[in-house]
Amino acid sequence: MTEVTVNGKVFQVLISRKELEEKIEALANLINSKYSGEEPPLLVGILNGSFIFMADLVRRLHFPCTIQFIRIESYTGMSTSGVVKMEADVSPRWVGRHVIVIEDIVDTGHTLSRFIPVLKSHQPASVFVCALLFKKEALEVSVQLDEYCFLIGRKFVVGYGLDYDGYGRNLPEIYQLK
Ligand code: IMP
Repeated sequence: MTEVTVNGKVFQVLISRKELEEKIEALANLINSKYSGEEPPLLVGILNGSFIFMADLVRRLHFPCTIQFIRIESYTGMSTSGVVKMEADVSPRWVGRHVIVIEDIVDTGHTLSRFIPVLKSHQPASVFVCALLFKKEALEVSVQLDEYCFLIGRKFVVGYGLDYDGYGRNLPEIYQLK
């Protein structure tokens, strides 16, 4: 499908399934070479948007690891509300662990800039941050982002876990607003 309507708005395909698979494979290879032989890392997925990316990434990892999800929300409709709400009171799990943070998209950077200092204040052994998408032009604060799969423009996107007001997460490709 090259065009879809999600919640009354028309979107066109931006990143195909094949492109997603190739980049996720490359990211998994990098993470495999970095963490094989280390103490088992903890992968922390940021909900809701990262669930599909996380599922596809972890199935390509070949070392022992544990997985946790936390929920952080800041978006309403197509723009950030400016208020980052975080549900995570699980800090003891982070002490001494190699933590890999998995984010769907870095846009203004406020979500990561709020979460990473909280994570680091609980003395993890190391922190590695990766995102599927990076809207570099929209960044408002500096953030730790060690790897990302795709650099995209400022346009709003849906699919592959990302939503427009709750809809569109189940689309297998990434679509951008037309
Ligand atoms: P940030 O805090 O502005 O970097 O935004 C991070 C969060 O905003 C992401 O985890 C997404 O949930 C959401 N977000 C940002 N841009 C988009 C978009 O284009 N489509 C859907 N969600 C987005």
